[in-house]
Amino acid sequence: MTTKKLRLLVLFGGRSGEHDVSLQSARSVLQVLDADRYQVFQVGITREGRWLGGENVIDRFLNDRIEGLPEVTLLPDPSRPQLFSLADGRLTPVAEVDVVFPVLHGTFGEDGTLQGLLELTDLAYVGAGVVGAAVGMDKGIFKDVMQAHGIPVVPAVLALRREIEADAEAVADRVEQLGAYPFFTKPCNLGSSVGVSKCHNRADLLAGLREAARYDRRVVIERGVPAREIEISVLGNDDPIASVPGEILPSREFYTYESKYEDGTSGLLIPAPLSDSLTAELQQVAVQAYKAIDGAGMARVDFLLDRETGRYYLNEVNTIPGFTQISMYPKLWEASGLSYAELVDRLIALALERKAERDRTERRFRRQP
Ligand SMILES: Nc1ncnc2c1ncn2[C@@H]1O[C@H](COP(=O)(O)OP(=O)(O)O)[C@@H](O)[C@H]1O
Ligand SMILES: [Mg+2]
Repeated sequence: MTTKKLRLLVLFGGRSGEHDVSLQSARSVLQVLDADRYQVFQVGITREGRWLGGENVIDRFLNDRIEGLPEVTLLPDPSRPQLFSLADGRLTPVAEVDVVFPVLHGTFGEDGTLQGLLELTDLAYVGAGVVGAAVGMDKGIFKDVMQAHGIPVVPAVLALRREIEADAEAVADRVEQLGAYPFFTKPCNLGSSVGVSKCHNRADLLAGLREAARYDRRVVIERGVPAREIEISVLGNDDPIASVPGEILPSREFYTYESKYEDGTSGLLIPAPLSDSLTAELQQVAVQAYKAIDGAGMARVDFLLDRETGRYYLNEVNTIPGFTQISMYPKLWEASGLSYAELVDRLIALALERKAERDRTERRFRRQP
């Protein structure tokens, strides 16, 4: 018996600072998709936000040779869950789509905006929905949600770009109330450490505030913790499970963009050397945090573990974490007994499961007679 292949749209690239990281993640995903099970459509999103389809799109993006690829799009119309070509200014259906795997990190991919479009189109998609993605992305709102659930986060101050531009000294005064230097300044909505600074003194702090404010309207400033960085992978919809923990060994003073992607020397320690009881506690908190933001499909939950006090803080949840074969998210599952290819299959199955659940929701209010 032959079963129908699942029509899978893989999205990559995108407008965020993590465009290149996304291409690496997508290349790994595309390599393991079983051609007997999936009919795959590759769509690359340029740094300007144009959607391009065609043949071997990933190679064209990786080699910076995207000229000539046909423009494609999705419509916010639930009666047309198809990929359309935009050639010659005309909309032409190219393919029916069953499920979308957005292998996109950061802004416009991992922050709920793309998820909103996919909801309107009424397609199944891998990963968190609109709220989970948005709350996972926003470092300010995220802390409030964690605190509401009694999950420890590093004490922080939030400042608007407008406040920083008008009176950075006043913002710095407010930050210094948190305690002693160092502080970390971060744009609320970004990833891969872009715009993140470690500030050792007031001059650093003023510079860090301005740097972060370049990338977002809101800036979060945290007390620096002398921390080990522990990460846990979570997988599932309503009954998520946690992987073994891993530890990051950054090649620099902290886990910067260069340390993440360029040095090639930041180490991953799997499993992280932690006591059994702390491992179990962090796994439980990771699942709790995932549920608190209404996570779905997957997320990597990152902790800071204070070397001096032994206290842990939940640093962030990444709803579309780095996904190359050597990235922490899949590596942790491998160590927990799930291979990279099995993980990709599982995520696609979870996307379909979530869509089926969504389809049970009544959209029209019918007055009881
Ligand atoms: N409060 C903090 N104390 C110590 N190190 C931190 C703190 N906040 C961030 N860092 C360091 O900066 C890195 C990037 O910050 P993070 O909040 O994870 O942002 P991103 O979303 O860009 O990954 C972390 O991996 C860690 O190395
Ligand atoms: Mg991080």
